Amino acid sequence: MKNIVILISGGGSNMAAIVHAAAREGWAKRLDARVSAVISNKADAKGLVFARDQGIATAVVDHKAFASREAFDAELAQVVDRYQPALVVLAGFMRILTPDFVGRYAGRMLNIHPSLLPAFPGLHTHQRAIDAGCKVAGVTVHQVTAELDHGPILAQAVVPVLTDDTADTLQARVLTQEHRLYPQAIAQLLPKI
Ligand code: GAR
Repeated sequence: MKNIVILISGGGSNMAAIVHAAAREGWAKRLDARVSAVISNKADAKGLVFARDQGIATAVVDHKAFASREAFDAELAQVVDRYQPALVVLAGFMRILTPDFVGRYAGRMLNIHPSLLPAFPGLHTHQRAIDAGCKVAGVTVHQVTAELDHGPILAQAVVPVLTDDTADTLQARVLTQEHRLYPQAIAQLLPKI
């Protein structure tokens, strides 16, 4: 059984999309994989409620309780490793990870970022795409490396930027694609790890 551990910080809609897709499309069974745990750095992350309702183990490692990034990441790794993950999935996990943490899961940690990387790493991607006059925007699923929002690209999806778009309307259009793309990319990667 390949364990998938998902890290979130907030709403967890991508995590929920992965959990639903794994069941609905049957790849969890076919690939002998399951979402074993959902871990958040925030106790009030809404996604934790969904995960608990699905009977998935949850844990909170509050970054504010640690004096340094290294100390937080060390504890986070301990909690992640309890579930012996084949794959660690960052799904709206809004913490910068140390090179040690990234190295520990090299080749088996994914991130989703709401832009067409390498354009617009970091925050406020949708507003930045609008401000730059982009005609298209999108989403990227990539392997995680030590550099924020970099690493080998596994999948991308493109959406149009409409003339009357706000950051909110563009975000909603991109998010719909995120929910389709992330489960697909995970299902494609799982047989290779
Ligand atoms: C998603 O749009 C995801 O791409 C983004 O945070 C949102 C989380 O939503 N991630 C990043 O910006 C990472 N750099 P969710 O909690 O509903 O899945």
